[in-house]
Amino acid sequence: MSTEIRPIGVFDSGYGGLTVLKEFIDLMPEYDYYYLGDNARAPYGSRSFDAVYNYTLEAVNKLFEMGCELIVLACNTASAKALRTIQQNDLPKIDPQKRVLGVIRPSVEMLGEFTQTNNIGVLGTKGTILSNSYPLETKKFFPEIKVSQEACPMWVSLVENNEFDKAGADYFVKKNIESLLSKNSKIDSIILACTHYPLLIEKIKKYLPANIQLLSQGKIVAESLKDYLKRHPEIENKCTKSGIYKFFTTDSPDVFKEQGQIFCNKITEVEHIEL
Ligand code: DGL
Repeated sequence: MSTEIRPIGVFDSGYGGLTVLKEFIDLMPEYDYYYLGDNARAPYGSRSFDAVYNYTLEAVNKLFEMGCELIVLACNTASAKALRTIQQNDLPKIDPQKRVLGVIRPSVEMLGEFTQTNNIGVLGTKGTILSNSYPLETKKFFPEIKVSQEACPMWVSLVENNEFDKAGADYFVKKNIESLLSKNSKIDSIILACTHYPLLIEKIKKYLPANIQLLSQGKIVAESLKDYLKRHPEIENKCTKSGIYKFFTTDSPDVFKEQGQIFCNKITEVEHIEL
């Protein structure tokens, strides 16, 4: 019997995807997971379409080389700017049997369960918001839901630089939340459409009226992956299940190990990797 590891790859520009991986591990601890953070080039949020696409494709190729059969882009910016092109143009050439999934579609599919007023707010990076992915995807599933959006260009930097619970974060969180709510007074649910934002949740709650519910993606995406694996036994059968979790970063492994603990307490060894 082969002892080769066929892990599920989880990719993000930096630490944010760890909030998604954590939920994968909680829900499906038996699988093997490789996490890759492109910390050396994070944040992606304000980068061009081409840059995000090229960086993401490099990471996807690397994770495939390392044995992954299935990769989840646990990054909204990469899901918004790179996923479709990779699925349609690159995967057929690389290996049509392999799969790359994103976080936007599974999140949007759940929106109808949360809003009573049919008015949703989306907080995301500049890249995600300008791509219009959330309004466009929502229209396909729930044409009756109105989506109002706000780009929060500073939030990922606050998180990546460990400033998310400091006083300086209050200014930007308050400013962006007030701006989002001023766009539509009927919003009753807000989705954190960036995998870094769960770290800011205490600050966000502080400036959000109590009647507005907050949706984080980790749990939603984990449930969706579980369902996907159930519906695709041909993929599921290839994923090995030894409960091995490995972490790779394009920047300093020591810094990743220390900072990453804030996002996910399953980090043991971290390796540096070049893309
Ligand atoms: N975690 C990424 C996301 O979900 C952050 C992108 C960035 O690096 O700016 O969008």
